[in-house]
Amino acid sequence: MKERIEKLGAQFNEALSGITDTEALENLRLQFMSKKGYISELMKELGKVPNEQKKEVGQTINTFKQEITELFEKKKDELIRLQEEILIQGAESYDESLPTEDPTGSYHPITLVQRELEDIFESMGFDIEDYTEVVTDFECFEAVNIPPFHPARDMQDTYYLSTANQLLKSHTSAAQNAILRKYGDALKKDGRPIRAVFPGRCFRNEAVDASHDNTFFQMEGMMVDKDISISNLIYFMKTMLSEVFGREVTVRLRPGFFPFVEPGFELDIKCLNCGGTGCPSCGNSGWLELCPCGMIHPNVLKLGGINTDEDPFEYTGFAFGLGLTRLAMMKYGVKDIRTFNDGDLSALSQFTSR
Ligand code: DAH
Repeated sequence: MKERIEKLGAQFNEALSGITDTEALENLRLQFMSKKGYISELMKELGKVPNEQKKEVGQTINTFKQEITELFEKKKDELIRLQEEILIQGAESYDESLPTEDPTGSYHPITLVQRELEDIFESMGFDIEDYTEVVTDFECFEAVNIPPFHPARDMQDTYYLSTANQLLKSHTSAAQNAILRKYGDALKKDGRPIRAVFPGRCFRNEAVDASHDNTFFQMEGMMVDKDISISNLIYFMKTMLSEVFGREVTVRLRPGFFPFVEPGFELDIKCLNCGGTGCPSCGNSGWLELCPCGMIHPNVLKLGGINTDEDPFEYTGFAFGLGLTRLAMMKYGVKDIRTFNDGDLSALSQFTSR
């Protein structure tokens, strides 16, 4: 019996070394391992072996089976790798007909602006957060103080999914509740202020034209701590926007209504082109409307688990919503918002790929 196994082993090795494709390998496996294969035959013969030798012979057969299984697996991996290499070598690795002059590709202008802002906020101690595009009605509206049938919903008509009250978020404020909940414990237990920005793609059911699109990007920010006031908001916005534009900017606040802030503001910066005297790019007003913001409404802080009814002003904070798409238009002089989404590489690949 032992001799027979040795012979079979030699036969297996010889056959294996000559195999160059997976089909032949599978045939060899069947020859040895299938129901009618050599191993099964050996097992049948084991019945005829005298009782006192059965254990030893049985073990030898098992070891043999294990050995050829391992050799088989190893060969199989080798063959697959070889086939892949052949495929890769023969394949065209990129589509040469794409109309771009830079074969390494380039970043989308919104990505460039987003990354630049993220760097600035990170240097000011902010956490950068990501959030989903599909959200619930609660997250997008109710959690930010916009109850059902509130007229503010009219300006944010969006795309609704047929399941579980879900929709495509119409503003990045939809992440406020989740961020408050995520960092609330650290604020209350360790006194770590909440400082977070969350960029994201937003959607609205818009009549599309050169300055409105149904898909656009915003970057929302929030800061919450004890004793945060409007002075903190103004100082912070001025510092942050001076960084963004690379020079000192002058800001002013006008009243603005957003249900999730009280008081709410429209923040303008003095026109960087004319210094405030009036020119075509600021509509001759001397100011550019840049970023809505305000002090976070007590209801939003309560729904986010930050304050309780007993002390609705224990913690206070401010929030702002930067229009990333608008900033990219201003920064790169893009006149038509549709350029960002229409996939025309000859336009989009012109921006520097830092
Ligand atoms: N979510 C608002 C919008 O898309 C923008 C906004 C306004 C965000 C005021 C804020 C804010 O955080 O304080 O129209």
